[in-house]
Amino acid sequence: MHVPPRLILATRNAHKTAEIRAMLGDRFEVLDVTAFPECPHIEETGTTFLENARLKALGISARLDGWVLADDSGLEVDALDGAPGVGSSSYGGEEGNDVLNNLCLLVEMAGNPKRRARFRCTMVLARDGREQAHFTGVVEGRIIHEARGAHGFGYDPLFIPEGCDKTFAELGEDVKNTLSHRSRALAKVVGFLTNDCPAK
Ligand code: IMP
Repeated sequence: MHVPPRLILATRNAHKTAEIRAMLGDRFEVLDVTAFPECPHIEETGTTFLENARLKALGISARLDGWVLADDSGLEVDALDGAPGVGSSSYGGEEGNDVLNNLCLLVEMAGNPKRRARFRCTMVLARDGREQAHFTGVVEGRIIHEARGAHGFGYDPLFIPEGCDKTFAELGEDVKNTLSHRSRALAKVVGFLTNDCPAK
């Protein structure tokens, strides 16, 4: 019987875990750090997505056996010089409060016709406390003027990906997972683990 390799996600964000698990199907046994209560909380003190993903991947990999995957992601808005960027999860002043974050974004963008933005996701793959590789995925799009849709999380109700006329929150998880920054980074991770990895 084929036992899929275990991939531990260095996150406590259930939405991210669900998205990544859905995208990987049965190719990997996907767990996150909620399955390992002994794992410490890693502070995201970096100034880039890569630095933060690295902190999480290496911090968790130093304590757990097997492949560890950390992602750091966020929204970059051109009219705001790339903000909220690495501060995406606390843009409204309270960590993880999506309602406040979206409100803050709408206020900052009020009256501004320049709406171009992108989601960026950087993933770091680690094993035995060492980085094995890192990957980035991007999805371009624009910020609309009021929230639309009920699916997803974070800024999904305000973001329309390029080539679409619906927000991520209207498109729903299945469509989002074919387009998203996270799915694009993850496709590169899977390629690496399947084809390029020196020690599977
Ligand atoms: P992280 O958990 O430090 O990577 O924070 C990511 C933050 O960026 C989240 O709290 C969201 O506000 C935002 N974000 C990242 N990915 C997405 C996405 O797929 N949809 C909507 N918002 C996202």
